Amino acid sequence: MNFNINKLTDKLRNMRDLSDAELAALIDAQDCDYLHKTADAVRRERYGIDVYTRGLIEFTNYCKNNCYYCGLRKDNTSLERYRLTKEQILECVHTGYTLGFRTWVLQGGEDMYYSDEYICEIVSALKAAHPDCAVTLSIGEKSYESYEAYRRAGADRYLLRHETADDTHYRSLHPDSMQSENRRRCLQDLKRLGYQVGSGFMVGSPHQTLENLVADLRFLQELDPDMIGIGPFLPHADTPFGGEEKGSLSRCLNLIAILRLMFPYALIPATTALGTIHPLGREMGLKAGANVVMPNLSPKGVRELYTLYDNKICTGEEAAECRSCLDKRVKGVGYRLVADIGNVKR
Ligand code: SAM
Ligand code: SF4
Ligand code: FES
Repeated sequence: MNFNINKLTDKLRNMRDLSDAELAALIDAQDCDYLHKTADAVRRERYGIDVYTRGLIEFTNYCKNNCYYCGLRKDNTSLERYRLTKEQILECVHTGYTLGFRTWVLQGGEDMYYSDEYICEIVSALKAAHPDCAVTLSIGEKSYESYEAYRRAGADRYLLRHETADDTHYRSLHPDSMQSENRRRCLQDLKRLGYQVGSGFMVGSPHQTLENLVADLRFLQELDPDMIGIGPFLPHADTPFGGEEKGSLSRCLNLIAILRLMFPYALIPATTALGTIHPLGREMGLKAGANVVMPNLSPKGVRELYTLYDNKICTGEEAAECRSCLDKRVKGVGYRLVADIGNVKR
């Protein structure tokens, strides 16, 4: 069926929903200036020109899992592995605080070296050092009890992308040891425990269809997360998907805009993957409705070891360099980086 993309854009803005066929047409559309501009207008209504920053601390590149797409997968034996201590993490946080950050994302592979007790110790230490800040964890699938313990220790937010809402597609991205039902259970548990939850997916992961992407949007409607992180799939040479095509920048931008129109309140980052696929990818993401950036606060010495995909940006820069680089980039496209905890505006 032939759809008028501008009319679909207006309808999505007004209704916050479309039929599956209409959503597919919008995801797949070319030259979507009006879609992106409309998403930007909706973002400005809710958030003005503010762009929130989250300081990203990639504290371990060990992982017990073997996702076919990710360079940190257990079977990638060519990767040098590292772990940060609580003291090193606190040092990153102190540097970040002086640079104006008020929220941190502790991200890593699923690394059993960090027991629940140790994670709780780290979270409590961060909250004690900076009670005015929010702590976000992104450390994968855990039990209800573990999530509960982190929450008690002071964790405020959790990022766990659902990756794909389609079971068959999920099976083609992960070995049998990983189950999409468990990931969905985790997201429900996190919501029950009162975390501000972030989910999302890669755009253009191998075998992904337009129908899969529509299912991802439907899944997000059900989950109703506060944060939605998407970015293009990018291949990593030392993974089973090393020879696969990367995701499409324009499809990713369309999806950011669609997400803004469906979830006007959402915190949507312009991701590092977007900045890797195109030198101005993050700026384009902001102009299409994104309102968060996540500069890297990890120590310079370990950054190039957190290689989810090839050619990742910001591996040679200090935290202060990334902060001021992003400041300029954000200003350059007409927005303002804010030192704020950056809560969702429902
Ligand atoms: N281990 C945790 C997890 O999987 O939720 C957190 C870290 S994991 C590296 C964070 C995200 O990186 C994943 O949710 C995935 O979407 C993304 N990612 C992994 N490999 C990627 C690739 N090759 N291209 C783009 N994004 C990738
Ligand atoms: Fe591990 Fe997360 Fe990478 Fe999967 S995506 S291999 S769980 S770090
Ligand atoms: Fe890291 Fe530009 S944001 S160098």
